[in-house]
Amino acid sequence: MADKTIKIGLVGFGTVGSGVAKILLEDCDYIKAKTGLKLELVKIVDVDTKKERPVKLPAGVLTNDLNSIVNDKDIQIAIELVGGTKIAKDIQLKMLAAGKDVITANKALLAEHGNELYTAAHKADKCIAFEASCAGGIPIISAIRTGLAANKIKAIYGIVNGTCNYILTNMTSKNESFRTALKQAQDKGYAEADPTLDISGGDSAHKLAILSSISFGCEIHPEDIFVEGIENIDIADIRYGHEMGYTLKLLAIGQKTAEGKISLRVHPSFIASENALARVDGPFNAISIFGHAVGHTMFYGRGAGMMPTASAIVADIIEVAMGNSKKLFKHLTLEPRNKDSIAKVDDLMSRFYIRLRVLDKPGTFAQITSILAKHEISLSGVLQHEEQNSNNVVPVIIITHQTQQKKISAALADFEKLEMVKNKPVCIRIVDIPQDGD
Ligand code: NDP
Ligand code: HSE
Repeated sequence: MADKTIKIGLVGFGTVGSGVAKILLEDCDYIKAKTGLKLELVKIVDVDTKKERPVKLPAGVLTNDLNSIVNDKDIQIAIELVGGTKIAKDIQLKMLAAGKDVITANKALLAEHGNELYTAAHKADKCIAFEASCAGGIPIISAIRTGLAANKIKAIYGIVNGTCNYILTNMTSKNESFRTALKQAQDKGYAEADPTLDISGGDSAHKLAILSSISFGCEIHPEDIFVEGIENIDIADIRYGHEMGYTLKLLAIGQKTAEGKISLRVHPSFIASENALARVDGPFNAISIFGHAVGHTMFYGRGAGMMPTASAIVADIIEVAMGNSKKLFKHLTLEPRNKDSIAKVDDLMSRFYIRLRVLDKPGTFAQITSILAKHEISLSGVLQHEEQNSNNVVPVIIITHQTQQKKISAALADFEKLEMVKNKPVCIRIVDIPQDGD
């Protein structure tokens, strides 16, 4: 069969854009031999055409003129790698209106405005491909949409932010401070332009909105997701958790409840240290998916960075060029957003880790247990180390049995009122990820 030439325009020559250019320029012969597609990077648009980049481009490719892609009828595929939700949205809409298929890694934009963009693409009879938007190089979108198509998805548990996982890993195993680890994640190109999005859990929520939309078949907005980040994590809690058999991860969880609602949350989570997700370290991501037919499947790989993300973008280029993305995209119809179908976090049933700093004196424990009893919370474990300090304050760690979030919130408020409690109580959810066969 004769080779097919595909002309490509790319907007945003930053971390991911550079990786895409590198693959398209250096590996085009290999891709042609494998797929019969001659991928030709015709134009790259970036606001800064003078900056030193890690890839050397042929003359005439780099420009700051977006219209050089918009008005070039031969360019079939436009890749948006600018980021953000305003300019990027205009760029994507312009490209669709100009008759180009769009490829993007922009999870913030798809989570906030996905439905509007998908509608515009359907109207233009074009497609939007977004494999790189979730979990970097892991082909998780394609796994959910095709590989697991036979399944009603019951639950997703994901480590989907490379920056946070890198920070937590380095705090745990290298004793690094939060700030040092974050700076390294930024230097390595894992973090967002504004890293607050990573550490606040916002980026994980964007990815969960996309993953749960395609898994559960309904429109999900980031506002539907309960989010807590890792900004206030204290290394002491990571250590106490470890002692009790738990590893701390920032998890994105999408789960069908027994009542038929969808529970959506991103928060620091203690998981059993023997669970496979607990061994996902550094910038790596992993997603455990439970389907009614397949049971448990787990996907693992590099979740951020130049080349892993570029790998996903180029996979999309090939799928779009072969016509596969368009066929699949036609069936991307999501039920309209329905807030009533989202489970309330107050109703969440979970186990909890609580750390109090209390005065080491008679009666302290009786007061703690009386508050737990008042809120019908049952203790499953307690840890208290002997500690000598001048103010006679010691940490007490409590692990609860399954209980409702609203009962825990009420108990925490009561603890805070006690004179002998000297800190704002620390509370971290313990997530019991089911074993296949459970
Ligand atoms: P970068 O900030 O490294 O790159 C963005 C590039 O776009 C910069 O060179 C920027 O220039 C340029 N730019 C800004 N505004 C415009 C504009 N109006 N027209 C043309 N170019 C513009 O970001 P990343 O490459 O890291 O991320 C790109 C996208 O990929 C984002 O949506 C991000 O969330 C997503 N992503 C990133 C991953 C990663 O590991 N980095 C992984 C998965 C997804 P300047 O720097 O001068 O502003
Ligand atoms: N900032 C993101 C992360 C990039 O750290 O996971 C990949 O989406």
